[in-house]
Amino acid sequence: MTGQNTQETKPLFERLPQTIVPTHYDLTIQPHLNTFKFNGDVNIHLKIKEPTNKVVLYANELEVDNAKVKSNSNDEQKGTVDYDKEGERITVNFEKTLEKGEYQLFLKFVGEINNRMRGFYRTKYTTPDGSEVRYGASTQFEPADCRQAFPCWDEPNFKATFDITMITPKNLRAISNMPIKSESDYAEDKEWKVTKFDRTPIMSTYLVAFVVGEYDFVETTDSNGVSMKVYTPVGKKEHGQFALDTGAKILPFYADYFNIKYPIAKADQIAIADFAMGAMENWGLITYRETALLIDPKFSSMDTRQRVAIVVAHELAHQWFGNLVTMDWWTDLWLNEGFATWIEYLAVDKCFPEFDIWTQFVADTFARFLVPDALKSSHPIEVPIGHPAEIDEIFDAISYSKGSSVIRMLHDYIGDDAFRKGLHNYLIEYSYKNTVTENLWSHLAKASNKPVNEVMSSWTLQMGYPLVTVTEEQSDKKRVLKIKQQRFIADGSADDENLQWKIPITVFTKSNPKKIAQQVLMDKPEMTITLDNVTEDDWVKLNFNSIGLYRVKYESKTLARLNEPIASKIISPQDRLMVQNDVAALCNAGHQSFVDYLELLPSFKDEDNFTVWKSIASNMGDLSSLLEYTTYFDEFKRYRLNLFSSIQKKLGWDAKPGEDPLSAMLRPMILGIVGKSGDQDVISEAKKRFQRHIDGDLMDPNIRGAVYVIVARYGDEGTQEELRQLFAAADMTEEKVRLLRAMGQAIKPKIIENTLKFIFEGDNVRMQDSISGLVGCTSSRDGRDLVWKFLQENWKTLVERFGEKSNFLIAFVEYGLSDFADEKIASEIKAFFESVNTPIIARPVKKVLETIHMRSEVLKRDSKAMEDFLKKQQ
Ligand code: BES
Ligand code: ZN
Repeated sequence: MTGQNTQETKPLFERLPQTIVPTHYDLTIQPHLNTFKFNGDVNIHLKIKEPTNKVVLYANELEVDNAKVKSNSNDEQKGTVDYDKEGERITVNFEKTLEKGEYQLFLKFVGEINNRMRGFYRTKYTTPDGSEVRYGASTQFEPADCRQAFPCWDEPNFKATFDITMITPKNLRAISNMPIKSESDYAEDKEWKVTKFDRTPIMSTYLVAFVVGEYDFVETTDSNGVSMKVYTPVGKKEHGQFALDTGAKILPFYADYFNIKYPIAKADQIAIADFAMGAMENWGLITYRETALLIDPKFSSMDTRQRVAIVVAHELAHQWFGNLVTMDWWTDLWLNEGFATWIEYLAVDKCFPEFDIWTQFVADTFARFLVPDALKSSHPIEVPIGHPAEIDEIFDAISYSKGSSVIRMLHDYIGDDAFRKGLHNYLIEYSYKNTVTENLWSHLAKASNKPVNEVMSSWTLQMGYPLVTVTEEQSDKKRVLKIKQQRFIADGSADDENLQWKIPITVFTKSNPKKIAQQVLMDKPEMTITLDNVTEDDWVKLNFNSIGLYRVKYESKTLARLNEPIASKIISPQDRLMVQNDVAALCNAGHQSFVDYLELLPSFKDEDNFTVWKSIASNMGDLSSLLEYTTYFDEFKRYRLNLFSSIQKKLGWDAKPGEDPLSAMLRPMILGIVGKSGDQDVISEAKKRFQRHIDGDLMDPNIRGAVYVIVARYGDEGTQEELRQLFAAADMTEEKVRLLRAMGQAIKPKIIENTLKFIFEGDNVRMQDSISGLVGCTSSRDGRDLVWKFLQENWKTLVERFGEKSNFLIAFVEYGLSDFADEKIASEIKAFFESVNTPIIARPVKKVLETIHMRSEVLKRDSKAMEDFLKKQQ
């Protein structure tokens, strides 16, 4: 196996023994929001399978001040507690041996409601009129922070039931996984209440959740009678309506697709103001970042609506795939996440066909992993995980995007009927249990009669993916394609390991452009495919609808023939965008000159598909940040302006009555690019519209992002001040994030410096949103230098503030530093991160170094040719 290069540095780790097994927890939690302390007690029902004097379980940053055990025959004895801080465990020692049998373990504990967005943590909000700051508390336990809220067997395969009780001030809501069973006065203080919740199903600790705070909600019942609520900040309940309606469609869709009913009586969703990730699938109480759940009917953009639909669909899928059936260990996290990422598209496609979401899958999800997975520092989807701290490393595009792309390919390979049948059988067999990837493959193999395990393991156990190289021969009306597979490596180097895959290959041709002409499973390094009835001039293309996980390299004449079906749009948008995307990648890797890419793009001149443009825009963005380091950047900007201006003229500034949602998303994307390319008309119109907006004539939310970026870029300190005032006045997080992304896109270094201060100093920006601001700052040469300087000067503080295990550190490195193109800076980055020694960013730093190396090679190789080409265009 490959890619296991961090093996030596992994901390030693042993899972808890299976000789003591919890079956049920009786948990009481009492949070104190004035002191940020909580106290609690737990009674854990245990099966002890071998005689022992000690019980080891997880607890982190908890003080356990009382421990006792009671046997079934009511024998009671006190225990003493030893702490293993490093291992996040406690040992409860008993004098008298506990013989085989059933016991109850009582523990009393106190802990801190922390400010790190993990475990049981505080979240800050203001009263609706903005006058008063208040705190609530929420949980985030996946992967391994339940132990920070109560002592427990905090590994996914120790499933148990939970009876949860919360003691809270009466004026606050107490919400948990299950419906409320009873609410009563708290005997010790009449200002407090005791809320008891129904017993949970048998489930893993990482799915437990409880929230306390002030919330409004909207509610409904889905078509199967499941009660659904969406909790919002006070005064904003109508912002929950979109997610509620979406959820109420998607939940029954899954019940039907899996042919298994949703197992509990309620499915609630809640927006938490401070939230580290996008969302978390706690059973019956899904928690979200505000921007991933709330829609302001008047002021949310189409983009946000689509995002909310996607995230809701993702988390609801986990209620079955993950919650009902759970991975045995974190090694199989990719399957949980990859599967949910695949089926979120299926569900959104059913509910919102107008988003044409499967096409977007190709640009956003499929094309996304192809970039990092081409790096030598990539890793296989299935990575052996020891210590849960290693999970942060795989919370990445490989698990999510490659994982889901592999499932899409498999679904296509075995067909929907077999897929559903196998999936149902798998979910039934492992309900309320734990499982491993191979068990899913076996069920799918049985249902489809296809060698699923064999085919899949080449994709999940080795890193990377193949480049299929095609050469052709023509004789009469026969086209003979010779195809060859080898790993695609981003910098074009050869694969020393000679990895091979089992690739489902499809071919289609001009004579029947909507249908697969031939299909083979490529299970060797080279193969020949013969196509009849193809004349000399006919185009042929591999990978119908871009479902297979490979890139294709054609001979130049084969590629040139594809200009026509691209221009006529006879091939699908998925295929149009991937031809372009493959060529860009091949240019980056030195298989082709970047001039080829620039020569291909004019075929897209009549393109009108949002997703195709998104993919082109993304590649042009990478190229732009590269060519910014050359003397012919202005010529490049003119080329780009020329490319995008006809679609910009077509779309204009204002939504057409009844237009489709994708146009609403395409317009701002194009405006932003055209504006950044220096189109004076667009720039001055943006400035006008911004002024009117400030004066109270509010802008269409769909174009706000683009306008903010343009005015920030071409504006002065005064503009920045206006953006900050809008930021302070905005009461929606979505709007705040739009503004944050724009601020740093200014050109003047002084303004960028001030933006970085604004983002990170004081209380202006929530920790979770700082990354959006930072990314904005990387949009120019000077900005990138300043971000790099900022990270060096503040690394220690960032590590302290976010915690050394925080995913945000990965994001700062990957998003902050990948756009350089200079080996000298790469060496600086390497040296700096070696000196600070922050383990979680080891792999991200390698990724960044490889990316910079690749970019600097492109410049060395293709700069002269691009310069000549671009200068000739003018
Ligand atoms: N279960 C994850 C969140 C998670 C993963 C927490 C690993 C801790 C460790 C959740 O379902 C998820 O994937 N959230 C995504 C959003 C989703 C729409 C892709 C996120 O938070 O980015
Ligand atoms: Zn997920």
